[in-house]
Formats: sequence, C-alpha cells, structure tokens
Amino acid sequence: MKTMYWKDNHLFLLDQTELPDEITYFECKTYKDVIHAIKTMKVRGAPAIGVAAAFGMALAELAGEDLQKAGDEIKAARPTAVNLFWAVDRVFNSDNVLDEALKMYDEDIETNKAIGKYGSTVIDNGDTILTHCNAGALACVDYGTALGVIRAAFHEGKKIKVICDETRPFCQGARLSVFEMQQENIPVKLIVDSAAGRMMQAGKVSKVIVGADRVAKGGVANKIGTLMVALAAKRFNIPFYVAAPKSTFDFENSIYDTEIEEREPDEVLYFGECRVAPEGTEVENPSFDIVPGDLITGIITEEGILEPF
Ligand code: MRU
Repeated sequence: MKTMYWKDNHLFLLDQTELPDEITYFECKTYKDVIHAIKTMKVRGAPAIGVAAAFGMALAELAGEDLQKAGDEIKAARPTAVNLFWAVDRVFNSDNVLDEALKMYDEDIETNKAIGKYGSTVIDNGDTILTHCNAGALACVDYGTALGVIRAAFHEGKKIKVICDETRPFCQGARLSVFEMQQENIPVKLIVDSAAGRMMQAGKVSKVIVGADRVAKGGVANKIGTLMVALAAKRFNIPFYVAAPKSTFDFENSIYDTEIEEREPDEVLYFGECRVAPEGTEVENPSFDIVPGDLITGIITEEGILEPF
C-alpha cells in the first residue's frame, strides 16, 4: 500500500481520513486539490505533506499556472511542518519541477531507511517503545521516521513491543500507527493519551521515539501531547528520542517562533461521528507541542544521531 503515487500526470493520495476502515485514493488533478488534501489531512505527516506539495507544484506547472502564486498558496495550507516550505522552495528553484518532485519521492524512502539504520542502534532487545501520533510510512512516502526506527530494529531480529498513544483528537496513533504495526506483525498495544505517564511509572516503557514537524534552535515541534510524554519520560529516566530527516530542520530560527496550527473545534467536540461535549462548549485545539531540547536524549537523522541545538 502506497501513501502516494504519481500516475498519468496526476497525484494519487491514500486518503488517511478513511483509514483503517477503507483504502481509497484521492486523485489530485490540480494543485488546489493538493491544498484541499493537506488541509483536510487526507495526507498528513511532515515528510508526506512535503512531497505532496512538490507534486502539487508539478501539477501547477503542467497547467501553466503561476508557480510563485501556487507555491505561496500551498505553503499556507498548514503552518507548522518545515517540510512543506522546504519542498515548495526546492522544486521552485529546480530546473524541472516534476523531475525534482519524483527525486524527492525516492529520496524520502532512502532517508527514512538511513534514519532506521542509525536509530536501531539505540534499541535494545526486549525494549517496549512508546510512540505518539504517526511518524510511520503513512506520514512519509514509505517506511517512516520513528516507526522506521522500530521497523529496522524489528527486522534486525530484536524482540520489541510498541505502545501507541491514541493521539486525540485526530487519533493518528489509534487509526494509523496501530494499523501499520499490525500490518508488519510488530507486537503493539494501544493506550489512551492520559495513560502514558502511568505506563512509564509502572515500568512498562523503556524508550520513547516520536517524529517531528520542526527541529529548530532550542527544541522540537511535534503533535500535541508530545510535551506531556517528554516530561513524564524525563521524570522516570526513560530515554526520549526524536527521529526526523534534515528536511524537517530549521537551523535559523528558535523553536519558540514556530506557528502552532489551531484546528477546528469540532475535532475536540466530537469523537468520530459522536458529539462528546454540550452545545456551546468553548474549545482550544492547538495541534502541535514544543518540546524543549533538555527533554530530548537525541535526534535521529539520516546522517547520525544529533544533540538538540
Ligand atoms: O497533524 P499531523 O498528523 O500531520 O501531525 C504529524 C506529526 O505530528 C508527526 O509526528 C510528524 O509530522 C512526524 S511524521 C514523520
């Protein structure tokens, strides 16, 4: 199953809002379709939205549209992940937008395998690894970053178990990470987000690995809930790793300058189709956390394991 593919000059995105129940692809014929897919999270995860954005630019070019305008609109689809901005700029400055997008597609898989290779060196036989959100194949072109590390360690024969936080409100952990682990027969358990601290306190977690939407001066931005996991891991002396490609890095700015996406109240007011709060409830729905560098044991990249900077 592919997260996305390019065929007959159209982009096909696995519709992640339908997973795990249905495997359907959303066909993008224009760059506006790609923007719609990113905004509605049919495609999500920092590396995946980066590569989708690159193909969105290719669609704009094929249609003879103004690339600067298309790029600005695509960048505005979601504000937090660096990869979106990185990808649009990279194809914009290339000689051939489609060729560059196709190159980025292939590179993403190689990059994640390299992250997996370095990351598996910190995984021990018998580890139980807690992860938050979905930093897997579905968040990338394939293989994944945090789940790529888990995949690599598992395929090296290490006996490991995975705990997925459900990751309210969009449930990327329950719907996507558990699904990915099951597909590969990697032992997996699902917990509610608020159980993570208890699991650590009870000695049921030996490592934490998460992905990132932005790595910058002073720390990392990742899915809401990651900060509480990192704080609990510090309290219980559990190593907390971030796995992310260099395309997620911003070496110029402070992590505290990150724009945190605020999403629709309905994501919180409803659990799936079911409304869970009274009419008139006021909601805040920040989609990302900032994790300070002192809570991070190491950042696993395709070039090795780095310290927060
Ligand atoms: O809102 P999402 O699902 O796009 O958020 C995704 C995450 O927070 C991931 O952990 C991050 O993008 C890393 S994906 C390899």
